[in-house]
Amino acid sequence: MTTLTIKRPDDWHLHLRDGDMLKGILPETARHFDRAIIMPNLIPPVVTAKDAAEYRDRIMAAKPDNSDFKPLMTLYLTEQTEIKDLRAAHEIGLITAVKLYPAGATTNSASGVSDFRNVRRQLETMAQIGLPLCVHGEVTDPDIDIFDREAVFIDRILDPIRRELPELKIVMEHITTKQGADYAAAHANTGATITTHHLVINRNHILVGGIKPHYYCLPVAKREEHRLALRKAATSGDPTFFLGTDSAPHIDDLKEHACGCAGCFTATNTMSILAEVFEQDDALDTLEAFASLNGPAFYGLPVNEGTMTLTKGDPVAYPEKITTGAGPVTVFDPQMPLHWRVS
Ligand code: DOR
Ligand code: ZN
Repeated sequence: MTTLTIKRPDDWHLHLRDGDMLKGILPETARHFDRAIIMPNLIPPVVTAKDAAEYRDRIMAAKPDNSDFKPLMTLYLTEQTEIKDLRAAHEIGLITAVKLYPAGATTNSASGVSDFRNVRRQLETMAQIGLPLCVHGEVTDPDIDIFDREAVFIDRILDPIRRELPELKIVMEHITTKQGADYAAAHANTGATITTHHLVINRNHILVGGIKPHYYCLPVAKREEHRLALRKAATSGDPTFFLGTDSAPHIDDLKEHACGCAGCFTATNTMSILAEVFEQDDALDTLEAFASLNGPAFYGLPVNEGTMTLTKGDPVAYPEKITTGAGPVTVFDPQMPLHWRVS
């Protein structure tokens, strides 16, 4: 096969930031994706409907002129989130989901949830009105090893919520483990996003032969057996699994730092990488399900009308960095030639 045409893809987990960074990196996503779920972890976070409306306006203003890109907004769940505000934001179609960060789990998560009993009313409301919850699934207990935080979160936090509110639509964001993939596949109303980079790297890529800050993200990449489980899930065609790149730009100074920020920036080359990965696994026929069909089905949204054609040929060169007004951002290096070009 040398050309592949699929419905236009969406990105079900994306960090666009704000200001000069937003302006610099939004074209990278808008070039290939029709829609994206926009993460609310700005400083300060997007916690109210008013915040989300204003952030959406800033994104629309930063959009390239010829682009039809549609941001799908989220609210950042806090223990103070008002039910009335949540309902109103949902009713007017302003938000597509609510994001749950355990307090302290990742970049800008200080306002997240410390005690899950304190968001029970909010979650009940969401289950009633059909508003999905996107979950950053890692415990923050300092006694739990960073490589075990996802699996422990599933047992201690996610499963009790899942049992109490079986109707609540939950997206396990950026799963990194076999446990995550198995849990999502086994439970109703539970989907899971998988990033591009977690299909490509395992923890050796971060640590062997010198520390590679551009491969550091959260949840951190795990052992090879987990990467293989994610590849199997993503390429399976199972509607549980869909693309959420978690493309998360930080300027190089903050990545290449004594205390480097978490995040891989994959917006630029994601579709070429995915085509390469799916071809390696003899699964090009399920790329469309993963990137373009399963996400809308989970969220109850229409599939995009347009198509994207990928063509196989000589390796495609992508820029090493994207220049933004905030500073340079390094593009994820998949350490393999990419033969599939988006036409
Ligand atoms: O690697 C990550 N970067 N993981 C997250 O959960 C947050 C993100 C960011 O905002 O930089
Ligand atoms: Zn993220």
